[in-house]
Amino acid sequence: MNLARGDGEIDAMENLFAADGYAKAFDGKERRHTIQPVPKVTFTDPAGQKKVVEAESGQTLLAIATDHDIPMEHACGGNGFCTTCLCHVRGDVSAVNDREEAMGMEGEERLGCQVTVQGDAEVDLMG
Ligand code: FES
Repeated sequence: MNLARGDGEIDAMENLFAADGYAKAFDGKERRHTIQPVPKVTFTDPAGQKKVVEAESGQTLLAIATDHDIPMEHACGGNGFCTTCLCHVRGDVSAVNDREEAMGMEGEERLGCQVTVQGDAEVDLMG
């Protein structure tokens, strides 16, 4: 099944569901369909090797790295207390959170376990 659908295909699906008893889910309110691009995250290791992977919006960098066998230390289990996941990050990611502020992160310095992607991002791994 092709998951990248245009508005026409979505409307056709909704009509199909409505005819099948799901009309209350489509109560006549105007809908806006947006297809979100899949975030691409580029990890660069300390030797300069790059690996580009696709991620889900809202995933942490640590989760993305783990899913793709990219080494990222996480001694505290991803709870924001150890800084072993320290990396430099650029791109469409979440703002620094309270946990990162408490750990003194500033500029591109971020905790991989606390940063979530919202779009494309570049990550320089520290070791
Ligand atoms: S894994 Fe410990 S601070 Fe991120």
